[in-house]
Amino acid sequence: MSRKALIAANWKMYKTPAEAKAFVDAFLPLVAGHTRDAIALFPSPVLLPAVTAACNASSVAVGAQNIHFAEEGAYTGETSIIQLKAVGGTHTLIGHSERRQYFAETDEIVNKKLHTALKHGIVPIVCIGEVLEEREAGRTATVLKTQVSGAFAGITPEAAAPIVIAYEPVWAIGTGKTATPEIAADAHGIIRAEVAKLLGAEVAAAMRILYGGSVKPDNATALISQEEIDGALVGGASLKPDSFAAIVKY
Ligand code: PGA
Repeated sequence: MSRKALIAANWKMYKTPAEAKAFVDAFLPLVAGHTRDAIALFPSPVLLPAVTAACNASSVAVGAQNIHFAEEGAYTGETSIIQLKAVGGTHTLIGHSERRQYFAETDEIVNKKLHTALKHGIVPIVCIGEVLEEREAGRTATVLKTQVSGAFAGITPEAAAPIVIAYEPVWAIGTGKTATPEIAADAHGIIRAEVAKLLGAEVAAAMRILYGGSVKPDNATALISQEEIDGALVGGASLKPDSFAAIVKY
């Protein structure tokens, strides 16, 4: 089964609207006519209107780094999925490790957000991954299976088609340490097997599983050309147009 790769930029808490617009203006010509892979940008909420407007005439998708599970309400500081859709966002990250680590997001919260995203037709990228101590203790497979089954509670095979998973070993995020293509492919195999157990072989075979964690232009090809790896979620190396374009064209 061939899965179209998705190359996604997680800008984290960087860029002003003017810098975001300048990125898009420089980036779009670099990827003009590139149809092999899908491309998505994930800026901070205040940048979303500028970035969706700048990407409007292109095939580059734009999404949020986080949404609340409630559609609206008294949740000071949060972004609602209705607001995301209203400014033209089509995707969202869910459960990024920085959300789990610094904002106490649990698998239960990730699950609620996943239900909200699917209900509203927003493409969810569910982020999972083990921390270093878990890997060193030989617990990687258990952690990944728990995160997948927790995220997917109550999700039916019929509803699951839009879901993308990003495997991001926490020890590789922002550290310059990348999982070897073999380590990443092995983890992706574990994740896909768990999806097959929960939602069936057909859904699992079609689901895109991205790799994230210190993806750079010089390691992107080795990672993404693995059969099990269906694209990348890129942090640091997505902040510059030429570097992110080089990854898109791995
Ligand atoms: P990194 O970040 O590429 O800077 O390691 C990846 C991520 O956090 O999604």
